[in-house]
Amino acid sequence: MQRSISLLWALRSRCTRGCRYCYFGTLEAHRLNPVTQVGELSHLSRNDISADEAIRFARSLAGSAVRRVFLAGGEPLAWAPTLDVIEALKTAGVEVVVCTDGTALNRPAVAGRLLRLDIDAVSVSLDSTDATYNDRWRSPLNGRDGWHSVVGGVRALLAARGRSPRPKVGLYTVVTRLNLADVVDVPTLGAQLGCDYAVPQPVSLAAGHELFDTLALTPADLPELQRQYQRLYTAGLPIGLPDTAYPGQVAAAIREPTGLVRACFGGSTLHFVEPDGTVWDCPSALRIAATPVEKHRSIRGATGADLFPEPAGCPQDCPLFSTDCVCMWPLTGFDAMAGPPPALAHAAG
Ligand SMILES: C[S@@+](CC[C@H](N)C(=O)[O-])C[C@H]1O[C@@H](n2cnc3c(N)ncnc32)[C@H](O)[C@@H]1O
Repeated sequence: MQRSISLLWALRSRCTRGCRYCYFGTLEAHRLNPVTQVGELSHLSRNDISADEAIRFARSLAGSAVRRVFLAGGEPLAWAPTLDVIEALKTAGVEVVVCTDGTALNRPAVAGRLLRLDIDAVSVSLDSTDATYNDRWRSPLNGRDGWHSVVGGVRALLAARGRSPRPKVGLYTVVTRLNLADVVDVPTLGAQLGCDYAVPQPVSLAAGHELFDTLALTPADLPELQRQYQRLYTAGLPIGLPDTAYPGQVAAAIREPTGLVRACFGGSTLHFVEPDGTVWDCPSALRIAATPVEKHRSIRGATGADLFPEPAGCPQDCPLFSTDCVCMWPLTGFDAMAGPPPALAHAAG
């Protein structure tokens, strides 16, 4: 079977940070107004699947068309069973990319187990080379593990990796109208640290979000944003970047925030799994809200082969384009950005 599917699996609701723009919403807002709708995300969720359910499902992906799982959340490395889920995924022949805030990488036991499990990549979130800016928008809940802990975690993982080809290590930056220079500055820092890839991705906020006016990129920001992307793509940094079409896709999404996506990968070669086990075509809040009840799916009691057979037929057009979609492109183009797995690189060379 050709394994062509990527899953973005938000494994846990709980997080160690209070990122103010997070698409899970904030603890403060949800303490006042707990979420009630199926498909709505919250760091306060009380119905995350159990470790046994997660491990059973991970094992069952052996018979499926899933090639790669991006494990996110919430913070996946703040939950001890995540390492057992990774072991089950790797045993099932699935590539694993952990998306983390980076702090847990400072713990030798965690970094060491990730290496022994031969995990494929670790994407670490860092919004700025300016520690104050980063920690203002990505505040550590314990008040301690801010920018220095994140960069320390990246250094620790790279040192533990040594000369081995895996895991690839990358930096993910949420770009807002307040940190446009970080489009270049964070990848430059990543290259200095020895990282393999960097993704500056636009903040995605609904028009009514309380931070929309402060953070969201608008057409007025485009000249400077495009200048920064041009600097990045011509800097010749020794670091992988999203496809060269990406800055244009980002700009198009800012110019025209809704529209039609032809032959969308959502629901075809990309699917999204939430901490409660529900499965959606993609993480777009618009698409989740528009999914009819008869198409609701869950990993509870299901196998990977049931849920994710080889995609048949043409991918569907989707009329619900949003900036959420832009953040998915670097996931679907992961090989080109982070480099092929060593076995393939060897065969090609
Ligand atoms: C929700 S986090 C979960 C994984 C992990 N805790 C981390 O910090 O990377 C996954 C990624 O989504 C990004 N993110 C969260 N909210 C976003 C938004 N509204 N727009 C764009 N990216 C966002 C985060 O910065 C992070 O890079």
